Parts: sequence; C-alpha cells; structure tokens
Amino acid sequence: MDLKKKILKLKEKLDVTIVAHFYQRDEVFELADITGDSLELAKKAMETPSKYILFCGVGFMGESVKVLSPQKRVLMPKIACCAMARMIDVDYFDECLQKLNDIGIKNEDLLPITYINSSAAVKARVGEMGGMVCTSSNAYKIIEKGLKSGKKIFFVPDRCLGQNFAKSLHLKSSVIGDGSNINEADIICYNGFCSVHQLFSVEDIEFYRNKYPDILIAVHPECDPKVCDAADFVGSTSQLITFIKELPKEQKVAVGTEYNMVNRLRKKNTFILSSTKPECPTMNETTLEDVYKTLLEIEKEQEAPYANEILVDEDVVKWAKVALERMFEV
Ligand code: 13P
Ligand code: SF4
Repeated sequence: MDLKKKILKLKEKLDVTIVAHFYQRDEVFELADITGDSLELAKKAMETPSKYILFCGVGFMGESVKVLSPQKRVLMPKIACCAMARMIDVDYFDECLQKLNDIGIKNEDLLPITYINSSAAVKARVGEMGGMVCTSSNAYKIIEKGLKSGKKIFFVPDRCLGQNFAKSLHLKSSVIGDGSNINEADIICYNGFCSVHQLFSVEDIEFYRNKYPDILIAVHPECDPKVCDAADFVGSTSQLITFIKELPKEQKVAVGTEYNMVNRLRKKNTFILSSTKPECPTMNETTLEDVYKTLLEIEKEQEAPYANEILVDEDVVKWAKVALERMFEV
C-alpha cells in the first residue's frame, strides 16, 4: 500500500484533524482536513472537536492552536520554525521598549501589535501590555482599532507589514535602527522580515510588465513596500487565492508569494514573480513520511507528552490567549 493510502487508513481510526497551511508541499496539503491562511487555521483548528490536531505548518501556528484550545493535543510532524518569528523574543522586545523609553517614548504611550508570526511568549508580552495579535488578512482593521487608543503602535516583528499597512492608512512609520525619526512615527516597526518575500523585487515586476503589458501583479504584504507599491493587488494568502481565482482565464498574473501555493493555483497564465524558486524552507520540511510517523505516535494514545507535541506554559497561555482573543473581537 502506498504511503498516502496508509495515512488515510490510519487517520480514519483516530480522533485527529490534519491541518495544513497553503505553503505545504502538495502531497501533504492534499491530505489535510483543514487548509487556510494563518487566521483561518487558528480559528478552524480551535473549532474542530478532535482531540488531536496534526498541524503541518510552522511552530507559531501550532502554538496558536494550543493557546486557543489548551485541552487539545497539538502535534507537528516537524517542529519547523518560521525564520521571521525567530527574529524576535521577549528579551529583544523589551530591549526595543528600553530604546524607545530612552528617546522619551514611554510604555504607556505605546500599543503593541504582534503579527501572528511570533512566539506565544511574545504574544503574551503584547497581551500583558494591552496589545493584540494581527494576521496579514486583518492587519488593516487591527491597526485601525489600535490607533483608536490614541497611542503609537509598536509593531513586531515584520517591518514590511508594518510599513505597508501604515501607508495604506496614510500614517507615518519608522523602523527601529534604520535612522529614521521614530518620534514622528505613528507606527514604530521592529526590524524583522521574511527572507522568502524579500526575494521579490521591483525589477521582477518590471520584467513581467515589459514582457506582458496587460499582466497583473499580486503580492503578499510581507514583500518590501516598494514591491507592494508597484503591485496591482496586495493580500494575505487566502486573499491572493480569491483574487486570482476570480480573474478571467486568459488574464495573466504574476504572484509574489511562496512557490508551492502559487504553483497549485492555476496552471495557465499564472507566474511566480521571481527568477528564483521562492520556497519557504521551514514550511517545506514536513513530508508524507513525517505525517505517517506522527499518526503512528497518536495511535499509541500516550499520556506523557510526545516528542513533537506543542506545549505552552500556563502563564504564557493566559496572556497570549488574551492577545489572540482581542484580535478575534475585532
Ligand atoms: P498568511 O497569514 O497570509 O497565510 O501568511 C502566513 C505567512 O507566513 C506568509 O509568509
Ligand atoms: Fe515565515 Fe516567511 Fe516562511 Fe511565512 S514564508 S512561514 S513568514 S519564513
């Protein structure tokens, strides 16, 4: 029996839901019960009645499910960590606050917002300070809501997302450490980024526009602000999918996001906006073999934690949950 059949057979016996992000390899993605962008996955995985969640994605996604539903057992076939999420921890977060305090911006003048691509510990720190989480599909609304507090937004960890949404809200942004005037900024961004989305450039856009004058360019907001400015559409993974699926068949579109997702979208007239193959290395780590091995582990129904089970400290759960729930309220 091939591996896929073995997985499906085993899955039928178990109280498990397989969840996969759009950036997963095709063979893993095809097996999932639930697929979606970061926001959809967090919500849908929380709502499923299954005792076990087998999460194919990156660490912060599995952690968000565990924080939202601590009674569930969340296992990841590979505990792969998003490189951007690793760019910030609570110490770096506090160091930044100190730098801001040193130039006269007090903690009480700041409302922190963390992109969901961050650890549960960072989310908890943000929650404790009265802040909230956002994803690429709701960042506009969340920042808009945050600004109603009358405070400056301290946005972590993705500087591009912070800068892009500041622009769309006609606000001033500044990145810590880039030499710009932080005191004048409405949104102060941490200097994190996604190395995959940095691969898309304005030159790539020019290349496609010269080659196909009627082509549309659609990109993820983790791309550089210059790339987003030059694009026709900017959206989260789900928003990109909807945008592209609604285009007439003959409309050419070049897409600036992860390779696996773009490749699966529409075989004709859809191009990857890069001369490279922009695969997310950590999203790509999970294989069918890993999924099968994890199901075999789940079959044991062991009480003790599994080696690849997501566990989050109770203290962290408390405040990270507050930060996530504030996002859901918006
Ligand atoms: P989405 O929330 O749009 O799925 O993005 C997650 C991500 O990591 C993109 O790089
Ligand atoms: Fe993280 Fe970038 Fe991979 Fe998304 S594409 S999971 S932001 S490293």
